[in-house]
Amino acid sequence: MTAPEHHGPVVHDWAVVPLPATDPDPLPRRLLREEPVARVRLPYGEGHAWLVTRYEDIRQITSDPRMSRALTAGRPLPSSTPHTLAPAGGVGRADPPDHTRLRKLIAPTFTRRRMRALRAHTEERTADLAARTQDAGPPADLTETFIGPLSASVVAELLGVPAADLDRVHAWREAVLRHDTTEADAESVKGEIAAYVAGLARHRAEHPADDLISELAAARAAGGLSTPELVSTAVMLTLNGLDAVRNIVATMVYVLLVHPDQTAKLRAEPARLPPAVEELLRYIPQRNGVGMPRIATADIDVGGVTVRAGDVVHVFYPAANRDPAVFTDPDRLDLERDEAPHLAFGHGLHYCAGAALARMEAEVMLSTLLTRFPALALAVAPERLAWRRGTVNRGPVALPVTW
Ligand code: HEM
Repeated sequence: MTAPEHHGPVVHDWAVVPLPATDPDPLPRRLLREEPVARVRLPYGEGHAWLVTRYEDIRQITSDPRMSRALTAGRPLPSSTPHTLAPAGGVGRADPPDHTRLRKLIAPTFTRRRMRALRAHTEERTADLAARTQDAGPPADLTETFIGPLSASVVAELLGVPAADLDRVHAWREAVLRHDTTEADAESVKGEIAAYVAGLARHRAEHPADDLISELAAARAAGGLSTPELVSTAVMLTLNGLDAVRNIVATMVYVLLVHPDQTAKLRAEPARLPPAVEELLRYIPQRNGVGMPRIATADIDVGGVTVRAGDVVHVFYPAANRDPAVFTDPDRLDLERDEAPHLAFGHGLHYCAGAALARMEAEVMLSTLLTRFPALALAVAPERLAWRRGTVNRGPVALPVTW
């Protein structure tokens, strides 16, 4: 529904309903074509926000240092969730110079050496999980037997979370990343995670290992970051690493299985996998609704519209990934596409810190599935697959397959 305001442009109500498979959200899709910088009201929070949907406008907004995340603290801003997603004080809600300092501290985690070690771990665990899935025989729910356990094990390896604690981490993830979790419940769960991470950091300060928590604990001892910053950043890495990868890789497998001709070509030429992963990232609308907004600290022109200082701005990356000004026939999956870089990992200052890791996990999992399961197919009709409802990240509830 769309209602006129007394002053200024129309404000669109964005209900953010859960959508199946890779269906684009209808409102941002329409706004991209008709009103690329529009005012929207969201299911939660007060007032309205700008919603920016065009590829070029989003690149501009997200690289503009006058757009602040720190100013979002403690305000009931228009949101798709009743609670704030990114933990306060962490990298997702900091501005430079704090943001720059925090990003520098987590950067060593993703150096070539670390990525090589993480890849070796991922390949080993993937081979093991694939063999177990094969041994148990078809049908199998790949999210349970393969994708979920793998993404959890990689995050555990990255951060240094003991395997025995993973179930707890999973329960927290479920609670925080749902749309219907209340602010109070989300805060209480975030408190539990924070206490857990703080305990782990204390332990690693005395018994360092080759993991991110140990590195952050050493940096904190040297005065490089505060305890709340350490905790919030580690919580964000944990939640993103678990949920985003699980959902997007499961959706990638679904998309490949419903495009058998393109998948057959990919299977025949494995060297095509890295660009195919990029196209899958572009094609898959990974989330329901928007993430964290930004607040303008000056009047800024965006696509001919003046965003005033103090205005709240949301960008919607999945719309930009289907922008017809940038991608030819944007709703078509083309695993050989070679156009502009997608914005699935965001852009600019807050570009996803785990992008290299997520790409590597996707590549290892998909190549393993393509080579070890040449007859892989959905075990149910595609339209009977259930998609998650009331969650931030979109993805199948389960991925029943046969081979
Ligand atoms: C395919 C999986 C993933 C997708 C699609 C994804 C996407 C994104 C997006 C869109 C953003 C926000 C950009 C913004 O704020 O404008 C982001 C931020 C972030 N992601 Fe990811 N992500 C994925 C996996 C991961 C993984 C595996 C990790 C870490 C283990 C991670 C850690 C982070 C962190 C720490 C930020 C905040 C960065 C900052 O604010 O500077 N993500 N991600």
